[in-house]
Amino acid sequence: MDLKHSSSTAIFCLLLLFCVGCRCWPLEIEATQTATLKVDASPQLARKIPETLFGIFFEEINHAGAGGIWAELVSNRGFEAGGSNTPSNIAPWSIIGDDSSVFVATDRTSCFSRNIVALRMEVLCNDCPVGGVGVYNPGFWGMNIEDGKAYNLVMYVKSPETTDLTVSLTSSDGLQNLASAMKTVSGTSNWTKVEQKLVAKGTNRTSRLQITTNKKGVVWLDQVSLMPEDTYKGHGFRTELISMILDLKPRFLRFPGGGFVEGEWLRNAFRWRETIGPWEERPGHFGDVWHYWTDDGLGYYEFLQLAEDLGAAPIWVFNNGISHNDEVDTVAIAPFVKDVLDSLEFARGSADSTWGSVRAAMGHPEPFPVKHVAIGNEDCRKKFYHGNYLKFYNAIRQAYPDIQMISNCDGSSRLLDHPADLYDFHVYTDSKTLFNMRSTFDRISRSGPKAFVSEYAVWRSDAGRGSLLASLAEAAFLTGLEKNSDIVQMASYAPLFVNDNDQTWNPDAIVFNSWQHYGTPSYWMQTLFRESSGAMIHPINISSRYSSSLAASAITWQDSENSFLRVKVVNFGSDTVSLTISTSGLQASVNALGSTATVLTSGNVMDENSFSNPSKVAPVKSHLCNAAKQMQVTLAPHSFTTFDLALAQSKLVAEM
Ligand code: AHR
Repeated sequence: MDLKHSSSTAIFCLLLLFCVGCRCWPLEIEATQTATLKVDASPQLARKIPETLFGIFFEEINHAGAGGIWAELVSNRGFEAGGSNTPSNIAPWSIIGDDSSVFVATDRTSCFSRNIVALRMEVLCNDCPVGGVGVYNPGFWGMNIEDGKAYNLVMYVKSPETTDLTVSLTSSDGLQNLASAMKTVSGTSNWTKVEQKLVAKGTNRTSRLQITTNKKGVVWLDQVSLMPEDTYKGHGFRTELISMILDLKPRFLRFPGGGFVEGEWLRNAFRWRETIGPWEERPGHFGDVWHYWTDDGLGYYEFLQLAEDLGAAPIWVFNNGISHNDEVDTVAIAPFVKDVLDSLEFARGSADSTWGSVRAAMGHPEPFPVKHVAIGNEDCRKKFYHGNYLKFYNAIRQAYPDIQMISNCDGSSRLLDHPADLYDFHVYTDSKTLFNMRSTFDRISRSGPKAFVSEYAVWRSDAGRGSLLASLAEAAFLTGLEKNSDIVQMASYAPLFVNDNDQTWNPDAIVFNSWQHYGTPSYWMQTLFRESSGAMIHPINISSRYSSSLAASAITWQDSENSFLRVKVVNFGSDTVSLTISTSGLQASVNALGSTATVLTSGNVMDENSFSNPSKVAPVKSHLCNAAKQMQVTLAPHSFTTFDLALAQSKLVAEM
């Protein structure tokens, strides 16, 4: 490498960074509107925002988990996705060879009784084609295999006669070999667990896993797994997607879904018990609401682990005996109640309790702190909801008095006729409506259960595939939730993730494929609220002829070293605004050094991010050189701006 060239590049980059870092707010834009925003920061009017206000809702939708944050690379690893009647469809597995060289079919001979389907491969050729015959799995729209990285293959094999299997990672056409190993399987009538680490000697974003042989005979395969060695905390989560979540600093994790929990039919609903224990033994299930099979590698235990790894409170949404199309009568709900109590014992019971011991055997002797459960999802109007709800509520209250229970019935529009600690509130609407909903909770009774706004988003034409416009309305809505956080306990955007190859629900906060990802403007908007949980909120007042296009809030928050007054302002209109921010009651002076302004905007209100332009609409930070208790700033049209005023403690100020 040319050292002279590289050091001058480094100096140039440093200078560039320095200059960008020095950019001073406000930028010179001519304003057509004026407004005044008064913040009363006096301590007696400040109120603490709940520690749990902003979190995430993870649903197994859009292949968010299988083929998403769950790093398993093999799709349909147990050959169960085609159903238990054999022969069955083995997709996305495919065959290497033709009718004259290999005969591949499923049968019901697995050693795992809960997922009995296995793959039988009869090699017909004596003189097989070069490269052998066999099967390959393309993963979830291609496996991202990266140079130098290790991948752990585990598979179960049965072969009556000793045979050689070649396991390899190749390009999607099989021509580029990225890694391969030969495994000799001794002839026996028993199943054998075969393990092999494969280290890639090249990168290919759409690779496949091949299992081939040149030897005539019969081989059975089952439970074929390929996991990258490098996963978040070694717990099986895709690292770069987890870091996107971590950047939101979520205080809770609502899981494993909404519709996914309910199912179109109860027989296809999420059943926690079927998703725990050794991965090889999990039956997997077809999620009939979002129309895809999951091997349930990302099961109940893994969700609890994920919450722990994120430092987020787990919120377990369980099925209450109701799906979209069928319901369990309350007279017959008792076994479902027992099932949920077992799930809570699994999470919270001691390591020597019946279900706590299963958790301990999975590697987590300490209980998981489940303090919230949601009794179903969007089921309030269903025939047996109230009856079933009360059965679950009473049983859980008795066994776990500290668990907060969330009702599906909207307590914002009328008083609930049943006991609940929280009620669920979902809203998907157009941008104007959501912008105007910033004051919805101003009008709600201050007594009764608190709101959990567990799903909110702008959708349809205003959202595109994640527009700036959507994010502005959502930001305005969230300022309203902050202000009403005496009665709104928690809030999360939905859905969180989408695999770009299966966008069942649009829009979503984080878009990914096998190797790329980006945040939509709604994702970036949420990062500007990540300091709000646990912060102090202050009253504000906006006066302007243009105030119907503005939304704002003010908080004080602290990082590890400093305190800040953060004023957030959404300009939902198309005019530039000259805004005077004046602060009273502040117990500290404002330090321009360390004060910043961060703006989320773009040239066109319908602008979106994409794989090729992931930061087209992303927050841009600059120094707030004129930061003071009274200051004038400019708001760009269609923008969301946060002003962080660095506070110098009064004691320190007095000493200076
Ligand atoms: O977030 C997508 C879906 O919207 C959820 O599964 C459901 O709760 C709601 O209808």
